[in-house]
Amino acid sequence: MPLKNSSTRFGTVSRFLHWTVFLLFVYQFIGANIMTRLGRNGTAFGMNGDFYYNWHKSIGLVLFALVLARLIWRRTTPLPDWAECLTEPERIITSRLETMLYWLMFLLPVTGYLFVMAGGYGIRLFGITDLPNPIGKQPAWSWLVWTLHILFAYAALIVISWHVGLGLKKHVYERAGLLDRMLPFRK
Ligand code: HEM
Ligand code: HEM
Repeated sequence: MPLKNSSTRFGTVSRFLHWTVFLLFVYQFIGANIMTRLGRNGTAFGMNGDFYYNWHKSIGLVLFALVLARLIWRRTTPLPDWAECLTEPERIITSRLETMLYWLMFLLPVTGYLFVMAGGYGIRLFGITDLPNPIGKQPAWSWLVWTLHILFAYAALIVISWHVGLGLKKHVYERAGLLDRMLPFRK
């Protein structure tokens, strides 16, 4: 499969970035719900709360790098033409949803990062090394970025559900094969 997008389908780079980001998002949601529910001495699958917090923050930073790569790739590589099965209103909705998804993929790690730095919690990258805190403790506004982080996380769930719903409607219900343009290992 070619690395770049063709006029009819997404290439390997776009597919790799799309599905890696998806898998890491799934991890972020599951991990976040585990970590915020574990008590001080609680464990889940043999790991304690510190483990889940460190991995949530670290994977969040990996996601930030992937999203920057994705944005650069999208801006420098032509997209495939619109899928013929999408009606004019569906193209408008798809384009708005994609813009929202990019904003959310960008703002989630930024608010998460600002919250842990402003709250003075810091980041121990994958449990190995502490990252410096370039902004210092900021109790005056750390609650604000915490609130935004939670709001963006649940807004992302809604937008992703809409995006997935539209894709599945076209692929499964209308049998238009839309997912073949993006699924891995599909020609
Ligand atoms: C974290 C979850 C997801 C995010 C953030 C996301 C984001 C995006 C974005 C931004 C695009 C536009 C292409 C690009 O710029 O890469 C796209 C395309 C696409 N996504 Fe997702 N997506 C997610 C999950 C899913 C899932 C679970 C499915 C499967 C049902 C899916 C199916 C598709 C398809 C089929 C396309 C190509 C549409 C077309 O042919 O134009 N996405 N996605
Ligand atoms: C795309 C990346 C991210 C996603 C999808 C995400 C998602 C979430 C979700 C769903 C929650 C739980 C909300 C709840 O209480 O129900 C959460 C909490 C949290 N996130 Fe993230 N997050 C991301 C990136 C980050 C990053 C980069 C950091 C820090 C460097 C971070 C730090 C935190 C912290 C500390 C909490 C817990 C707040 C509390 O204890 O109430 N997140 N995140």
